[in-house]
Amino acid sequence: MKIIITGGAGFIGSHVVRLFVTKYPEYQILNLDALTYAGNLENLRDVESAPNYRLVKGDITDQAFVDELFAREEPDAVIHLAAESHVDRSITDPLAFVKTNVLGTVHLLNAAKNLWKPLGYEGKVFYHVSTDEVYGSLDFGPEMFTEDTSYDPRSPYSASKAASDHFVRAWHHTYHMPIKLSNCSNNYGPNHFPEKLIPLAIHRIQHGEAIPVYGKGENVRDWLFVKDHATAIDAVFHKGTVGETYNIGGVNEWANLELIHLLCDTLDEKTGKEKGTSRQLIKFVTDRAGHDLRYAIDSSKIMNELGWKPSVTFEQGLGLTVDWYLENETWLNNVTSGAYQDYYQKQYAQR
Ligand code: NAD
Ligand code: TYD
Repeated sequence: MKIIITGGAGFIGSHVVRLFVTKYPEYQILNLDALTYAGNLENLRDVESAPNYRLVKGDITDQAFVDELFAREEPDAVIHLAAESHVDRSITDPLAFVKTNVLGTVHLLNAAKNLWKPLGYEGKVFYHVSTDEVYGSLDFGPEMFTEDTSYDPRSPYSASKAASDHFVRAWHHTYHMPIKLSNCSNNYGPNHFPEKLIPLAIHRIQHGEAIPVYGKGENVRDWLFVKDHATAIDAVFHKGTVGETYNIGGVNEWANLELIHLLCDTLDEKTGKEKGTSRQLIKFVTDRAGHDLRYAIDSSKIMNELGWKPSVTFEQGLGLTVDWYLENETWLNNVTSGAYQDYYQKQYAQR
């Protein structure tokens, strides 16, 4: 089987590529990635010379390129992760999210349909990786997002992902494309780009700089270790039913401030600092526009039907993550030089 994994040089994509390249040596894995600011080949150094792995540098917003690639490579399956993925960037540049997340997805669907429909779609799969943010925002309380929750996206990022989910389902109903979808909660772990909360806070703590907490830090997210997301994607890809959607989450809700406290204490302990040292860096800053209050995922469908469950507790996963950042200071320093500094200044100067 030849699989195109899009966005394989990014945070989650690199863990998915690694899992598939090492677990399925009989598969050919093509990593289709534009290598934007979020794509980093350092994430894949350990698998880049595997005989069943290849990088194709290219942009999914270019239909002609995508068509030519599919015609040339004749993939059997697509696992689509390439996206613009950061809510704050979507607030300052929404069009980039429409282009990559909506148009890019439709370009891939078109190319897959043109290649597979004449073959009757036999043995083919288009797997779209999405987010729980398409369901909107929950109040504090016990309610969770299920696969039947109505879509109610509220940021340009989640609106673009919701649109892409709708297009994927439309290709299933209209053109009989064999699709699978999953909607996952917030991921954390190694190789996470330091524009997102956890790696940004780790980077700030390591440099003794302020940790920006939006609003009162009361917003709740449901955190999942990235390697557990990769095993969930493996389960959906191989065992999931065509046409179905699976919610993936960690059953692991944290208010941002509580999470930052735990992170500060973990770093203090691991770097031999007195407990409480890093907490002093917390700085409450202007809230994000339209900030979703709470996300929480009900994962019972994937757990009951596909037998998937997370492999680590949050404390274990966070410990592994902090260890990785402490051991990979060069990775962090490389991605936070140059353009990142401009981003940080622009994003946080007004807060
Ligand atoms: P990321 O931003 O770390 O990586 C995105 C990757 O896509 C990068 O390698 C980038 O170079 C590539 N890319 C961007 N635009 C492209 C284009 N036009 N053509 C080709 N490649 C392009 O993202 P991530 O956090 O790894 O997220 C991966 C997917 O998972 C996304 O679809 C995202 O919506 C979804 N998701 C993310 C989370 C999370 O917590 N990070 C949670 C649920 C779902
Ligand atoms: P983020 O990692 O950007 O993920 P998402 O917005 O997709 O959930 O943010 C996680 C939470 O942390 C979210 O409630 C916003 C908040 N946040 C901060 O408080 N400070 C920050 O500097 C960032 C980047 C996020």
